[in-house]
Amino acid sequence: MKQGIVVVGSLSVDFVMRVPRRPAKGETVSGYDFNTFVGGKGNNQALAAARAGAAVHMVGRVGKDQYGERLAAMLKQSNVDTTHLIQDRNAGTGIANIYVDSEGDNSIVIIAQANGRLSNDDVAAAMPTIEQSAIMMLQLEVPYETVLAAAKAGRKAGVRVMLNPAPAPLNGKLPAELLPNIDLLIPNQTEAELLTGIKVVDQGSAIRAAQKLQQAGIAEVIITMGEQGVVVLERSGATHFISAFRVTVVDTTAAGDAFCGALAASLAEQRSLKDAAIVGCAAGALACTHNGAEPSLPTKTEIEQLLAATI
Ligand code: RIB
Repeated sequence: MKQGIVVVGSLSVDFVMRVPRRPAKGETVSGYDFNTFVGGKGNNQALAAARAGAAVHMVGRVGKDQYGERLAAMLKQSNVDTTHLIQDRNAGTGIANIYVDSEGDNSIVIIAQANGRLSNDDVAAAMPTIEQSAIMMLQLEVPYETVLAAAKAGRKAGVRVMLNPAPAPLNGKLPAELLPNIDLLIPNQTEAELLTGIKVVDQGSAIRAAQKLQQAGIAEVIITMGEQGVVVLERSGATHFISAFRVTVVDTTAAGDAFCGALAASLAEQRSLKDAAIVGCAAGALACTHNGAEPSLPTKTEIEQLLAATI
């Protein structure tokens, strides 16, 4: 029986600066705090799914350096299988430079480094793991051709393939074959607009964008809308709106990753798409209450406590 989750994606070290406001063009701003955290959307989603209770395998590349060691150690500590985590001698570990302002909102610059070298061959080498998994989680911080190869491999192996299309492609374009190989797409408002041309500002526009994506061949769509909540479009065409949980926001970094990871973990437990999205919303909200990506990713117990306190 297929079980567990395989993540094919990025791993980075986050250099996080807290600033009163994010710098404008040509401006220098004095910050007041600096930290390094393990991050990268693939790594964050793998950690989030494992902490939410799933068996998780990570397929990715880090540099053979102190940051790569740190990422591998955190994955192992969180019970993520690192058999297919490659230490690349020819590139450093991926970097993210993150400014977080007083509202908890961020601006991020990423340098792919080893993430940019994750290849189709790396996906092929992980095929036995992919074939055994129930769910594959993908993002867009590794080469598009590798994401496509992974999606096709997952589809061929009968794995439920999830794509969080982040960061949004600069020109709004993805390889033509990618979306037809995705079972569940989870864009945020910006990404949904780029993919559909529909400005997503509220529940109604999110439903229209999700329906357009479904008409293009994606069976299930969830559009995340930050503090508003999420819209879920089921395979049957049924839609649901789930309001965001109210929390005190410290840093929104990795809230989307927490959502995707907890959602995948719940789907791996055979929950419905709607129920899994509620769990994802709780995880996403909790991720906003701490500074940094990794430290903010909640455990299953923390998620259950928030759900019990709210529902
Ligand atoms: O989604 C949050 C992540 O985006 C950060 O951890 C950073 O690494 C960037 O990739």
